[in-house]
Amino acid sequence: MLDVMAEHTATTLNKPDVALEMTLRPSLFSDFTGQPRVKERLEIAVAAAQQRGEALDHILLSGPPGLGKTTIANILAKAMGANVKATSGPTIEKAADLAGLLTNLEEGDVLFIDEIHRLQKTIEEYLYPAMEDFKLDIIIDQGPNARSVRLNLPRFTLIGATTRSGLLTAPLLTRFGMRERLDYYVGEDLQKIVIRSARLLNVEIEESGAHEIARRSRGTPRIVNNLLRRVRDYAQVRHDGRITKVVADRALAMLEIDENGLDEMDKRILEAVITKFGGGPVGVNSLAVAVGEEPDTIEEVYEPYLIMEGYLNRTSQGRVATELSYKKLGLKPVTGNQSKLF
Ligand SMILES: Nc1ncnc2c1ncn2[C@@H]1O[C@H](COP(=O)(O)OP(=O)(O)OP(=O)(O)O)[C@@H](O)[C@H]1O
Ligand SMILES: [Mg+2]
Repeated sequence: MLDVMAEHTATTLNKPDVALEMTLRPSLFSDFTGQPRVKERLEIAVAAAQQRGEALDHILLSGPPGLGKTTIANILAKAMGANVKATSGPTIEKAADLAGLLTNLEEGDVLFIDEIHRLQKTIEEYLYPAMEDFKLDIIIDQGPNARSVRLNLPRFTLIGATTRSGLLTAPLLTRFGMRERLDYYVGEDLQKIVIRSARLLNVEIEESGAHEIARRSRGTPRIVNNLLRRVRDYAQVRHDGRITKVVADRALAMLEIDENGLDEMDKRILEAVITKFGGGPVGVNSLAVAVGEEPDTIEEVYEPYLIMEGYLNRTSQGRVATELSYKKLGLKPVTGNQSKLF
């Protein structure tokens, strides 16, 4: 089975980190913590498809980075005993690239398209009949000899992953039989992930140490694993290797990891709402311009966490900073602004 992770992380992690990332990635549903509802629906789909001896329906996995989309795609393929061919939206440059991928598939194979929202529209159109009728119309030859040929494709499963489902066109969205959105993990699940990863890395960790790392991980398993590795280094060099609460605390303080797990962009967003827009309400487009980010990214990647953690409220007039945001930035709410809320 082709592992879809290696290439994807290579740009952001160095080599030993990539190797570790692979070890830490769960390959079975039973090792996959959290996302209980998504997991249940997918497990049922796998069991049903297997009972009927059919390929899985096409599945779209969406949600912020690092929550387990690629992991789930691999788990699904493994559970189905299927081969995975992995690619990503931006790497499919020509229709011929897609045709090459599709015609090389075998019955039941999984085609994983990461960042599917970045697929060119002209290429996307070839996917429609492929997904729906398992047919591919290709044009061969050029000029007066050009003709369209219809190829039959094996029954395959397309698994698409995206952080920005809002950018997908309706025809593509509706061709996925299942659409699952992953959500940020609760502290308890992140803590279980830290403990599992520590066991795989052979690191001794106290529950309170795991709790501290989980708490500061922005609800994200990838961040939890990254912080665990950095804390492990600190524990090994400055202490006896064991991760206690105190060691975790000191390591995270040294790394200047935010107490509440917020990252730079989270803080910029809160700061903009408060200092540039008087605490809100502010529309997502104005906010996006103020922080130099795409409105969709704010809505799909940053905002959900800030809302979940109680830093922002979404009202019909726009985003409003809560008291917690003011506290976080060490500012006092201006009472005059509160009237805008109601
Ligand atoms: N439920 C989980 N339990 C344990 N570890 C997990 C879980 N989900 C994700 N991970 C870990 O987090 C890492 C990141 O997950 P993954 O690469 O699947 O995220 P992603 O959603 O595909 O992110 P991106 O949008 O950046 O591609 C994985 O390598 C894995 O080690
Ligand atoms: Mg991924």
